[in-house]
Amino acid sequence: MLRWPLSAGHDTTASGLSWVLYNLACHPEYQERCREEIKDLMRDKESEEIEWEDLSQMPFCTMCIKESLRLHPPVTAVSRRCTEDIKLPDGHVLPKGNVCLISIYGTHHNPAVWPEPQVYNPHRFDPQNSKNKPPLAFMPFSAGPRNCIGQNFAMAETKVVLALTLLRFAVRLDESRPVRRKPELILRSENGLWLHLEPLGPSHESRPPATYS
Ligand code: HEM
Repeated sequence: MLRWPLSAGHDTTASGLSWVLYNLACHPEYQERCREEIKDLMRDKESEEIEWEDLSQMPFCTMCIKESLRLHPPVTAVSRRCTEDIKLPDGHVLPKGNVCLISIYGTHHNPAVWPEPQVYNPHRFDPQNSKNKPPLAFMPFSAGPRNCIGQNFAMAETKVVLALTLLRFAVRLDESRPVRRKPELILRSENGLWLHLEPLGPSHESRPPATYS
């Protein structure tokens, strides 16, 4: 059984954030739509701070974050010990006491539920399109009584960091450093995840890039 270290809420959120920035760098059209949504939200504010009630006013950003958590789930698998015999639909029985590994990554890439599973498409999470999806088809925070206790906080944190980053920077891929997924306890990239952050001026112009990993 996986035991969560105290850093459960740090590495996971860092992975989730890195991958959503990566996915938006790969898809500038979605990045721009997120930025417009955040600019609209901030329009009449005196300070550049995201407040609690703002978090529910970011539907497209939320769709982009969820699609990133589907395509690149920070936690790729969880384990469970059967507390009773479990009969599967095909008649096989998982005996009591067995430890099962449940692949979140595999579930999120099941083509029967997610057509073209490798494609980053935030519109999958448009409320119109997600109505008929089985509830466990998407479970980046796992499910059941031992699911992630920090999921609401993680979503809030991700929205705030994403919003404030996109307000200030254009995020571009560093084409010279290819990205290769590396699933450890947390889903990482083999040689880091290199992106260019180009500061945005008030009129949205870009300046020479700075590189961060
Ligand atoms: C994107 C961010 C995050 C992801 C994807 C994530 C995902 C998960 C997953 C898959 C589990 C395993 C549950 C299971 O075994 O079924 C878990 C457990 C846990 N998470 Fe998170 N997590 C995130 C952020 C956080 C944050 C921000 C916190 C704390 C503030 C947190 C605290 C915990 C704790 C304490 C557990 C253990 C719960 C238990 O064993 O009962 N996580 N998380």
